[in-house]
Amino acid sequence: MTQSKTWSDRFETALHPAIARFNASIGFDIELIEYDIQGSIAHGKMLAQTGIISTEDGQQLVTGLEQILIEYQEGRFTPGVDAEDVHFAVERRLTELVGDVGKKLHTARSRNDQVGTDVRLYLRSQIETIRQQLREWQNVLLQQAEQNVETLIPGYTHLQRAQPLSLAHHLLAYFHMAQRDWERLGEVYERTNISPLGCGALAGTTFPIDRHYTAAELQFSKIYANSLDGVSDRDFAVEFLCAASLILVHLSRLSEELILWTSQEFNFITLKDSCSTGSSIMPQKKNPDIPELVRGKTGRVFGHLQGMLVLMKGLPLAYNKDLQEDKEAIFDGVKTVQGCLEAMTILMREGLEFRNERLNQAVAEDFSNATDVADYLASKGVPFREAYNLVGKVVKTSLAAGKLLKDLTLEEWKELHPAFEEDIYQAISPQQVVSARNSYGGTGFEQVRHAIKAAKEQLSGEA
Ligand code: ARG
Repeated sequence: MTQSKTWSDRFETALHPAIARFNASIGFDIELIEYDIQGSIAHGKMLAQTGIISTEDGQQLVTGLEQILIEYQEGRFTPGVDAEDVHFAVERRLTELVGDVGKKLHTARSRNDQVGTDVRLYLRSQIETIRQQLREWQNVLLQQAEQNVETLIPGYTHLQRAQPLSLAHHLLAYFHMAQRDWERLGEVYERTNISPLGCGALAGTTFPIDRHYTAAELQFSKIYANSLDGVSDRDFAVEFLCAASLILVHLSRLSEELILWTSQEFNFITLKDSCSTGSSIMPQKKNPDIPELVRGKTGRVFGHLQGMLVLMKGLPLAYNKDLQEDKEAIFDGVKTVQGCLEAMTILMREGLEFRNERLNQAVAEDFSNATDVADYLASKGVPFREAYNLVGKVVKTSLAAGKLLKDLTLEEWKELHPAFEEDIYQAISPQQVVSARNSYGGTGFEQVRHAIKAAKEQLSGEA
């Protein structure tokens, strides 16, 4: 195709075809078309409202723009690389549709404030979706937690058995991470929801525009107070990618646990056929692909965050073409986090089964009640450090004898310390060990029930 000239009469020839391809963003920024049209409609209306163009011209612009959106949605508008970017593509099509009036749309505007507006409108809407997804994710975690208050699971530090937990308590930890993610994205939303429209190329405009009008039309809550800042700020994109990275850190940590738990060594969960895959050669296998992919995709978003920071660090004010590179990072960040949240929500809701019997048995087969023996003595007046050392010795001799603490006879206990009574057995049973950790925020069943109630209130907006 022969390349037509985009620029003013200052330019005599068209771009070299390879340079045109290199320069073009239409291949990815077409994603913004809906928002580009929204922004242009608001701008066109404002031009008419302020008398910069006539009411009739304004109406024609709006009708033409609405027409383009329909054409796009029906698959009849597919601009190619000759359009350079979505902004030019829409403006050009507008002029084809409504004639020379179309050429008035860009009065008092630059692609610099235009693209900033589009990206903010896009991201604002995507953040809303992600926040809803986080709520669904929290709901699913909460449902699983409710069913597993008294299911026990080994708790680990350093991946060594530490103290047993209520499975619900473990799941609720992820609920709270998601809560912070939800709140954090709410803050990012606020800083995304600011209108740069009317900042012009960098310095504002000579026309009597009304920036408050366009901001209100587009439901922005504020407008940028400084035109240079307005066209060159991408903090919101960095913040979004940071918030997205943290969501994925959380999902990835859980993924890692789920992967471990499906292994024969742990054997804590079984994956349902709907959410696992087999091997092309080893017929016995059932692989945890979903959490593995979530864990794997996390790195992409960290990469986008890093890329975005590096993109910004050396940019002089105001707009520089480097900024065109923000889009793929943002788009891929959005899609990755949305895809991961969707998959993990399905997995947690219907894709796995906790093997409760095995879990409850697992916590009875270790020394994770050792702290409770020390606590038992401490509550009878033995200084904790002394009790701790004594229990260390008991663990050592029991290990050598191939016994667990519950296997010691009362005589053996008493030999170790006269303060031991018959009730030591009750005190070190896994149920009791968990239930006794009733300090605020602890894993005791009462605390966990309280936490579930508070979490429910949080989700229903009561707290
Ligand atoms: N496609 C461009 C971008 O994504 C639009 C803005 C171009 N502005 C300019 N001054 N060349 O950033």
